[in-house]
Amino acid sequence: MVYSRLSRRLRETGHTSFNDYLGWLESHDGNEWQEFVNALTTNLTSFFRESHHFDIFSAHLRSRPAGSPWSVWCSAASTGEEPYSIVMTAMEALGNNPSFKLTASDIDSRVLATAAQGVYRLESIKGLSQERLQRFFLRGKGSNAGMVRVKPELGRMIDFISVNLIRDDWPFREPFDVVFCRNVMIYFDGPTQRRVLERIHRVLKPGGMLFVGHAENFSESRDLFTLRGKTVYERR
Ligand SMILES: C[S@@+](CC[C@H](N)C(=O)[O-])C[C@H]1O[C@@H](n2cnc3c(N)ncnc32)[C@H](O)[C@@H]1O
Repeated sequence: MVYSRLSRRLRETGHTSFNDYLGWLESHDGNEWQEFVNALTTNLTSFFRESHHFDIFSAHLRSRPAGSPWSVWCSAASTGEEPYSIVMTAMEALGNNPSFKLTASDIDSRVLATAAQGVYRLESIKGLSQERLQRFFLRGKGSNAGMVRVKPELGRMIDFISVNLIRDDWPFREPFDVVFCRNVMIYFDGPTQRRVLERIHRVLKPGGMLFVGHAENFSESRDLFTLRGKTVYERR
């Protein structure tokens, strides 16, 4: 996988061996480092992936008095389907102009740009209800036929920023009510997962919720998080 993904970078930068390419990369502080990272990430995602999370999240949003402010972080946002699913759920649960701010981040600059655009192929919204399609999407016409765009009011609730989960330089000042960190920790080894969990613990309010991916299990970190449902944790 690494071979085929980096081979493309070698071709595009005119290098004939991995050694040459890596030597050049290390002596060069241009944009290629970001391209190198972008080439290595796996960005599979979809709207309302692991849909049980959105039911739990919706119930959680409805559990506080109307008008309560919410601050949520989607920490591996990929091409945007996950953050838009989060704000759609917020609008369904709290109404059209909720006091709701989402920070959506990723390490990959290319997927973040796609996420900020909010334009998707029709196939990617297959399976969404007619009600959601009408409320949250605009259909492309003419040269944009076959595409949909997420309505701008959803985008206005989201800040898209670059954050590397495994670096200790997260830019947050205020703690979050909820963090989504789904299907990214599987790429980290155990000690790295633990360090990231400790940092998520620090940026979550006590009692805040953490949603993780279907193959991720952090029951060994029960000093930090209590399991509250299938792959849903509460910050201790
Ligand atoms: C498989 S996708 C999961 C997307 C989404 N969370 C979901 O569950 O559908 C993993 C995402 O994690 C991002 N990623 C990988 N390593 C990361 C890191 N160190 N910091 C932040 N994001 C990272 C990738 O760029 C990719 O977009």
